[in-house]
Amino acid sequence: MTSTPLRYRAGSEAAPALLRAAVLEGLQSTPKTLPAALFYDARGAELFEEITRLPEYYLTRTEHAILKQHAGDLADRIGENAAIIEFGSGAAIKVRYLLSALRNASAYIPVDVSREQLHAVAAERAIEYPGVSVLPVWADYTEPFDLPDMPDSARRIGFFPGSTIGNLHPDEASAFLRRVRDCVGDDGGLILGVDRRKDPWLLNAAYNDAAGVTAEFNLNALSHLNREFRATFARAGFKHRAFFNDVASRIEMHLEALSPQHVMLQGTSVTFAAGETVRTECSYKYDRPRLDAVVANGGFRVAELFTDAQQWFWVAWLEPV
Ligand code: AVJ
Repeated sequence: MTSTPLRYRAGSEAAPALLRAAVLEGLQSTPKTLPAALFYDARGAELFEEITRLPEYYLTRTEHAILKQHAGDLADRIGENAAIIEFGSGAAIKVRYLLSALRNASAYIPVDVSREQLHAVAAERAIEYPGVSVLPVWADYTEPFDLPDMPDSARRIGFFPGSTIGNLHPDEASAFLRRVRDCVGDDGGLILGVDRRKDPWLLNAAYNDAAGVTAEFNLNALSHLNREFRATFARAGFKHRAFFNDVASRIEMHLEALSPQHVMLQGTSVTFAAGETVRTECSYKYDRPRLDAVVANGGFRVAELFTDAQQWFWVAWLEPV
């Protein structure tokens, strides 16, 4: 249903050293934090799919509606003979709006860490779009990766839907955009999904659903830590908290200790006072000035914005400057 959020090599035998280091550093910081990548073990990926179908979680269905309505406009912007590079392709559903609308796409390059899904999805899209060369790249797109050989003449277009960029601090988001810009070149483009700043009531509801799926998704990070990192978190000792931080313009997700907690992790001991939280995710929400700033720092400009009737979400067409 969705593109892949920032996640690490899912399903690998040993938890990667980088993530382990980030976990230890975050838990020893004040305030405590954990990397959002921790959400996406197999159970977390399922829970996220469930989140995308929740009535309160407007993001996914709104972005679908925008892509569906404006696929033709995006195709006009992209032109003929394009190579679409998707950063974190996941199930590669949203890209179908583009591939269907493009008259003469030459290549589709899905990039993902989940090897099995990547190859399954690549095979499906190759059958669905016989004129398009599908060239899967098994890589973590948050790190530099090599592009496959593609027709020199093809215009390179990045595709980064899902408001996944929202997980990055604005400075990190700009750094990511600069890497995308290097990847697509001076005459490339980028289609970026961005969640907009809006009534905090709507934002808070989207991350505090009545069915409790987001709470389960948040707490699952602790189960993941216990399993992959041999941590000793008591899940019942923590509760889900999510709120809009207006100054930083982001939803923050936290896990709050209900009573004093003592946790062992990789030989390190971590304590929580009652009421203390660990921040597990930031999800930045953009208005036009904030978007323009991040995009400009990333070496792009906003050439066109597509939105929905309620003005909740943007699909942005960015061009390099
Ligand atoms: C995958 C980062 C876009 O920020 O809305 C959903 C993740 N966290 N509910 C988001 C998420 C809680 C999601 N992104």
